[in-house]
Amino acid sequence: MGETAELRIGNETYTLPVIEGSEGERAIDIENLRSQSGLITLDPGYGNTGSCQSAVTFIDGEKGILRYRGYPIEDLAEKSSFVEVAYLLIYGDLPNKEQLDNFRESLRYHTMLHEDFKSFFSAMPKDAHPMAACSAAVAALATFYPDSLEPRDPHQVEVSIHRLIAKLPTIASYAYKHSIGQPFMYPDNRLKYVGNFLHLMFATPCEDFTVDPVVEKAIDLLLILHADHEQNCSTSSVRLIGSSMVNLFAAISGGINALWGPRHGGANQDVIEMLLAIAEEGLTAREFVERAKSRDDTSRLMGFGHRVYKNFDPRATIIKKACYDVLNRLGVHSKLLEIAVELEELALKDEYFVERKLYPNVDFYSGVIYNAIGTPVNMFTAMFAIGRLPGWIAQWHELHHDKQKIGRPRQVYVGPNQRPYTLIEQR
Ligand code: ACO
Repeated sequence: MGETAELRIGNETYTLPVIEGSEGERAIDIENLRSQSGLITLDPGYGNTGSCQSAVTFIDGEKGILRYRGYPIEDLAEKSSFVEVAYLLIYGDLPNKEQLDNFRESLRYHTMLHEDFKSFFSAMPKDAHPMAACSAAVAALATFYPDSLEPRDPHQVEVSIHRLIAKLPTIASYAYKHSIGQPFMYPDNRLKYVGNFLHLMFATPCEDFTVDPVVEKAIDLLLILHADHEQNCSTSSVRLIGSSMVNLFAAISGGINALWGPRHGGANQDVIEMLLAIAEEGLTAREFVERAKSRDDTSRLMGFGHRVYKNFDPRATIIKKACYDVLNRLGVHSKLLEIAVELEELALKDEYFVERKLYPNVDFYSGVIYNAIGTPVNMFTAMFAIGRLPGWIAQWHELHHDKQKIGRPRQVYVGPNQRPYTLIEQR
């Protein structure tokens, strides 16, 4: 028998197995705790709870390490493309040339949406948030493809995966085009994945559109950096929803909604709104940092802090460098970047942030890049969703491969004890 942990409750001692992951992470396995002892564990926010064993992504928050399937994020960011990384996450290994060509070809084949989707988008108010539109549209894919909804049929799953990755950029761009009253563009399958997305977003039927390679590369990089992050809020949501055996589209639609929140992916929109507000209100960076620290003020320094990274977020380091590169190459001077750098410098020296180990996260600089290349602010989180999609899919796939049971946490009930019902006349 391997290492064990002992738990003493009253006079009883329970022996619990300790399991170790491939990077030496140890965990007490409490799978049989309740059946043995009648007790459960309580961990609101799950800061100490592993929900699964996973071979997709490794993070060491103390050392600032992030690896997809064993490959350091720095190497993937420098050498890979987003489509290649998507393949890696979903299928477990980097593709050879033929595998990559076939994958790209299949994604190209599936980029179009059913023509009736146009009326689906047109029925939404113009100011609908793209995340609401994307989540609804992804859920609606299940209505168009009832032939591929079975989560344990490998062929149906494969088709759904390719459809989703191919169509999400088209969906996101339709949400945007509808909001500005421009015609929906058809995908241009001669272009690469990101080039096609830029075409869908920024082309119009009346003029030629050329993809700027600097912008294409920058977006590709951002998508790679967002592609997976183990058991974060949206991924855990996808897994939990998926564990009910619902179809992939429904699970991913739930993930998109979870990502939308300002404590999660929605922070990238909030960061840029924060920077714009600082610029418009003429606040100094110091005034804003003081505001973010104040207990009386609800504003946090958006793009700062992370549940897992307590030293630095390696994605933020790469994005900050890319931010300077892209802005230089585009010849853009960004006041927002200046404010962001000043905020970061102040916060990193401030006792409040140092004590709480709060560092810039992936969202702090990504918005500055999106902003510089003309992406509308409310599309930022939708771009994050396109990036995170392969990670959600890989984790969903793993859940089914491992035949994990339905996710069903317990609770400690603290409400009223049984009481007699009072008729309405007597209340
Ligand atoms: N600005 C000011 N104070 C902060 C910030 C911040 N950005 N983040 C955390 N704190 C403070 C909290 O007020 C709390 O202080 P206290 O101990 O005095 O009460 C302490 O730091 C711990 O914060 P928690 O919210 O308990 O930490 P948790 O690990 O639960 O939250 C989170 C992490 C949600 C990311 C948080 O840091 C935050 O809200 N950041 C801003 C939003 C953001 O950037 N989200 C994107 C995260 S990355 C991603 O999801 C893609």
